[in-house]
Amino acid sequence: MSDRSHLDTPLSNWMKESDLPLGSADSNPGRGASPHRRIDRPDPTVGPLLEARAVRKSYRKSSLEIPVLKGVDLDARLGEFMAIVGQSGCGKSTLLHLLGTLDAPDEGEIYFENNRIDNLPNAGRELLRNKYFGMIFQFYHLLPELTTLENVLVPMMIAEDGFGYWRRRSEHRRRAIELLDLVGLTHRQKHKPRELSGGEMQRTAIARALIAQPRVLLADEPTGNLDKSTGEEIITILRRLNKEQKLTIVMVTHDAQIAAEADRTIALVEGRVQDNAVG
Ligand SMILES: Nc1ncnc2c1ncn2[C@@H]1O[C@H](COP(=O)(O)OP(=O)(O)OP(=O)(O)O)[C@@H](O)[C@H]1O
Ligand SMILES: [Mg+2]
Repeated sequence: MSDRSHLDTPLSNWMKESDLPLGSADSNPGRGASPHRRIDRPDPTVGPLLEARAVRKSYRKSSLEIPVLKGVDLDARLGEFMAIVGQSGCGKSTLLHLLGTLDAPDEGEIYFENNRIDNLPNAGRELLRNKYFGMIFQFYHLLPELTTLENVLVPMMIAEDGFGYWRRRSEHRRRAIELLDLVGLTHRQKHKPRELSGGEMQRTAIARALIAQPRVLLADEPTGNLDKSTGEEIITILRRLNKEQKLTIVMVTHDAQIAAEADRTIALVEGRVQDNAVG
């Protein structure tokens, strides 16, 4: 469908040097990087795409410290559909937010294509999220004043300056329409979110997450607000994207039946990945 040739391009070719913390070779050496090379050149077909190493995260509320993640190790491999399961409150969303650089761990490291990403400055994290990560959430997070088509286009409006976006607007529009077609929403382009069903809103959110051709889709309870059969439709779409477009997906869910659709399930228990997780 779309040109995914950029998937072969290492992250470091896409990020501007000024967005990376290159102040010293040690500040972001990358996995196995020579201390003399400031940007690692990973082979994206080797090793994990997204990794958490010994990640710890606590929240503080007044004088109370709530430890949530107590040393999480996790690898999401290129092309796999991984599910993270666990009881409500065990830290699944927290972990997904850390993987997606929406928040930073207290201790430990996150790597994307062998590049350390948890310590990137804000601009680098934003660029990473915009270009490489697609995200979907339980409550969709669509902009209420925009149509379905406009919501799908939002990441491109953010990624490009006004003139750049205007110059390529027909290309972006064509791709947004293709994506709406892919998720079965061709007939809802002009609807506002309040005129859509829950499943249609989530399908819009999926199309929006894909417009910038991400390398990984992070999904937090994508079916959590939907009835069973609508939830299954969403999972069928995700499964298809994974199989046909080789999209790596990391999905959080508390629903074992939904998790069973993934290639691999890991369980978070008491702040750690359970040893005997299904693999
Ligand atoms: N900003 C915050 N400030 C304080 N505590 C927080 C904050 N965010 C989350 N927590 C606490 O951290 C714990 C983990 O929350 P998290 O949202 O990651 O759980 P979850 O596994 O996603 O749960 P659910 O399945 O209900 O979505 C919970 O006990 C929650 O109350
Ligand atoms: Mg959650």
